Amino acid sequence: MPDLYDDGDMNNMPSKLFEIERRIKNIFINYSFQEIRTPILEDANLFKRSVGSSSDIVNKEIYSFNDRNDKIIAMRPEGTASVIRSIVEKKLDHLSHKLWYMGPMWRYERPQKGRYRQFNQAGIEILGIQEGLPEFEMISVVCSVIQELKIKNCLIKINHLGTKQDKEAFCKALVNFLEPYKKELNEKDFERLHKNPLRVLDSKNAETQNLLKKAPSIKDFIDKSAINLLNSIKKQFSDICDIEIDYSLVRGLDYYSGFVFEAISSELGAQDSFLGGGRYDHLCSQLGGKEMPAIGMALGLERFSNLVTLTNNKIKMVSFIILASNIEPKAYKIAHNLRSFNKAVVLDISLAEGSLKSKMRRANKNNADYAIILGEEELENETAVIKPLKDELKEQQTVSIEDLYSFYKAL
Ligand code: HAM
Repeated sequence: MPDLYDDGDMNNMPSKLFEIERRIKNIFINYSFQEIRTPILEDANLFKRSVGSSSDIVNKEIYSFNDRNDKIIAMRPEGTASVIRSIVEKKLDHLSHKLWYMGPMWRYERPQKGRYRQFNQAGIEILGIQEGLPEFEMISVVCSVIQELKIKNCLIKINHLGTKQDKEAFCKALVNFLEPYKKELNEKDFERLHKNPLRVLDSKNAETQNLLKKAPSIKDFIDKSAINLLNSIKKQFSDICDIEIDYSLVRGLDYYSGFVFEAISSELGAQDSFLGGGRYDHLCSQLGGKEMPAIGMALGLERFSNLVTLTNNKIKMVSFIILASNIEPKAYKIAHNLRSFNKAVVLDISLAEGSLKSKMRRANKNNADYAIILGEEELENETAVIKPLKDELKEQQTVSIEDLYSFYKAL
């Protein structure tokens, strides 16, 4: 199948999301990821136990309802928890996997530009492999997505949250540092300080950010090997994408430890992150499975699509015009044959009744390259008319059906 679009300047095509999804799926398949489809509805507890009870998602953004057995069911806010639930349930947590998924997610957020209550994610998860190569594979996929869809003005931020113990020690130091200033914090940051201190680093408040300038840095709590990993990833991929080590980068979901990352673009406004992910080695055991190292990421397709520009590629479009209802069955079979001969061409048959004039108007509106016209006389003589619509110098011609097939194959 050829690309439907080339890059250029034609936004708001009805199937832009379709084309972006197709290209992203191709990248995932190219990297040898396998598709996994998980249900849209899950036991709401799954997200409390994974995304975390201190996260914004679980605190106030879950769409849930009681089913007929009074069980609380949630519309999935993200894909990772469901993937791990499914791996544990199927007892596949002793193996390694490379999985991708794509589909709608729900979060009860205040709707604004780039933040929707229903949105789509494309995600990948590498399961069963310790820190090291999977980190490179993740950033390589992110760079491929950015490169393939020609995203400009974007930055990949990377950080390392250390081991579970490093993260805990850092949180403690952060709380000790912020405690004397707690009266100066706004309500949201004050709440975060007690529920999930790491998230204070994410504060949008200028005074909090000012205060944080002197706060302890995760850099002083993590291993040399973690810093080496960050430097090495930056070194290897910086010629493809802008990569920055940001020791204040934290993620909004609780399950992360180790390597984390986000991709942002200045063109998106306040909701500037179009992709995020990281390592979550303890989630599987937390959900009742074995200890299984894991890393993954998800891309927000609506935000991402705002950064992508596609134009109509030179794909050929042909209008098939049938002029008499008594020849429709035979003519339709000819159209069927044409479609099977050349799948790279789009063949539009006007299915409604209408005059030649109205059907030609439709062909021009569709930006068709050619019209193939079949009337009673043509079919009686086993012929058809080919009318070029783009090249004014070329005359229409009557050809045999066999020659019509050859012409169509060669388009
Ligand atoms: P997340 O950072 O919560 O991570 O979401 C990933 C992406 O989904 C965001 O960067 C953003 O582009 C998009 N997104 C999130 N919320 C909304 C919304 N309300 N409207 C529009 N777009 C939105 C996760 O979901 C993790 N599960 C990623 C992951 C996979 N980590 C490991 N594996």
